Amino acid sequence: MASVTLENISKVYPGDVYAVRDFDLEIRDGEFLVLVGPSGCGKSTTLRMVAGLETISEGTLKIGDHVVNDVHPRDRDIAMVFQNYALYPHMTVEQNMAFALKMRKTPKAEIQERVAWAAEMLGLEELLKRKPKALSGGQRQRVALGRAIVRKPAVFLFDEPLSNLDAKLRVETRAEIKRLHRQLNTTTIYVTHDQEEAMTLGDRVVVMQGGLKRQCDAPLEIYRRPADRFVASFLGMPPMNFFEGHLQQINEKLWFINEATSLRLDQAPNEWLAGKSKRHVVAGIRPESFQLGETASEGNSIAATVQVIETLGSTMDVYLETSTGKRIVCRVPAGQLTEGQAIAAHVSPQEIHLFEPDEAGDFGRSLKAQRELVV
Ligand SMILES: Nc1ncnc2c1ncn2[C@@H]1O[C@H](COP(=O)(O)OP(=O)(O)OP(=O)(O)O)[C@@H](O)[C@H]1O
Ligand SMILES: [Mg+2]
Repeated sequence: MASVTLENISKVYPGDVYAVRDFDLEIRDGEFLVLVGPSGCGKSTTLRMVAGLETISEGTLKIGDHVVNDVHPRDRDIAMVFQNYALYPHMTVEQNMAFALKMRKTPKAEIQERVAWAAEMLGLEELLKRKPKALSGGQRQRVALGRAIVRKPAVFLFDEPLSNLDAKLRVETRAEIKRLHRQLNTTTIYVTHDQEEAMTLGDRVVVMQGGLKRQCDAPLEIYRRPADRFVASFLGMPPMNFFEGHLQQINEKLWFINEATSLRLDQAPNEWLAGKSKRHVVAGIRPESFQLGETASEGNSIAATVQVIETLGSTMDVYLETSTGKRIVCRVPAGQLTEGQAIAAHVSPQEIHLFEPDEAGDFGRSLKAQRELVV
């Protein structure tokens, strides 16, 4: 068991390509930490530097109290599980699981005991004599998990271990990984581009973009208080709706205003937020934050027309368009609506997120800082 500490870690590939930039993170002993982000954002590179499969260009990496920048992967006391399983095809399940222990000259009796323990834990007892080609994808991935746990390493590293499984198996194996972590409590770093995996597995989630750490927090915290517009749009399905507009103070209250609507906000007006002039901002509203009604009410609704209805069972996604041509998606309980119908989408002031209008849109972060100053 150990913590893993990344201090100002960067990875620069030839040609001055920064795959990871100035990455700071402490993964606590026993924590399940998820790195999530779009393709190419540097997740695998970060993980591979922790594993020792990639050199570290700048910064310090510690496992426990030891600096391991120059320690061979074999000596880092970690086990990694890959997307493609990386099993040895000519070995049986049992031999695959025993291999790393054998290489480390573990006594035979202990190898047998550990393989039996891992096989029982993962329900692999019946498959021990089979070779990988005689296994399903899900079974192969369980063997890969078994091979990692028999080593009883200080740290587990997972790189998209469920990507090759079908939807049902993904969910099952995801639950299995969570159960394993509860039982073993081994420090884990888990890479995925799947937000659902990130939200369900992580004690904390790091959202990455362009080699940078955009936010690191508990999953619900990230969902409720995204630090910037990228994080807000990356987590949540369907994605958050964004509206351009400006802030204005009217009768001691702060409002978000654009040509289609005026919405009351829950922030108290102050110099910094509203200023004397109109401050340009982007408002973010999650699809599930809307309630649909027939009549508009001043200060908390947007008038629109129903364009498309997608029924999902207990809920439905309703695509609306305002008079100015702005499209909005709402996720609401399934009910009676017809395409072409005029409607009002209501939202309560607490459900409106504010972002800077620039690309990063980290108004959320500044707003939080501002709140702390005001309180
Ligand atoms: N060996 C390499 N040489 C040069 N650039 C590389 C190399 N490996 C990765 N990169 C670049 O570094 C960036 C980060 O790659 P990385 O594989 O870490 O992304 P990722 O987040 O794991 O993406 P994915 O979700 O597609 O697996 C990418 O822009 C990639 O093109
Ligand atoms: Mg990757």
